[in-house]
Amino acid sequence: MNGQRYSLPAILLHWGQAILIVWLLWLGWTMTDLPKGAERSAAYGLHKSLGLLALLLVAVRLAWRWRNPPPALTAQGWEGRLAHATHHALYLFLVLAPLAGYLASSFTPYALKFFGVEIPKAGWPDEGLNGVFKLLHQAMVWGGGGLILLHVAGAAKHALLRDGTLSRMLPDKSAP
Ligand code: HEM
Ligand code: HEM
Repeated sequence: MNGQRYSLPAILLHWGQAILIVWLLWLGWTMTDLPKGAERSAAYGLHKSLGLLALLLVAVRLAWRWRNPPPALTAQGWEGRLAHATHHALYLFLVLAPLAGYLASSFTPYALKFFGVEIPKAGWPDEGLNGVFKLLHQAMVWGGGGLILLHVAGAAKHALLRDGTLSRMLPDKSAP
């Protein structure tokens, strides 16, 4: 049975990242409506730091997954293919969305900070390129939001059927 479950590190990485991503989506969609001022700057600063943390976390997660392959999917046929494709698209979103955010922030005149520590940028002040990467970042987070809805709907269906799929991603209560 244990071979059929996700390992504890995979479970911790999944839920840690899920919380972080939902927080980032909420922060992103609320901060852009704030009037210019200290509150908006603080929200943008926190969003960028958490977004960079999410990028670090996906690197750790992919490195871990590469050395510790996940258990085979429970779903068969088209549902299995959809779950497989959604998981891969989610990983693509988890890498590309923060990269686009980082690039958007690189082509501004402002310093980029990771929880107060200034980090190198990959660009120079350029409104045009800033606009391009902002648009890409927006498209990716909207696409990612759609994928997450699909993913959670799939998880909810399995939870309603009580077929054990959700519990594979939860700590093993029967373990000593
Ligand atoms: C309430 C929210 C969520 C629930 C209930 C949930 C549930 C699950 C479950 C049950 C699995 C295992 C599927 C299986 O065994 O076939 C899974 C896998 C996965 N989830 Fe979530 N999830 C949630 C949120 C998220 C979020 C926000 C993300 C990232 C944006 C995410 C990314 C993934 C990925 C990439 C996998 C595949 C893991 C692998 O096999 O490498 N999940 N999720
Ligand atoms: C997975 C990680 C991330 C998620 C889920 C995310 C999510 C979002 C969302 C939902 C928005 C609002 C988009 C809209 O207006 O429709 C946003 C905007 C923004 N994000 Fe992120 N973000 C992430 C990572 C990053 C990173 C790493 C940076 C920079 C270091 C960043 C910088 C920005 C900036 C500057 C904006 C505002 C763009 C504008 O003013 O139009 N984001 N983000």
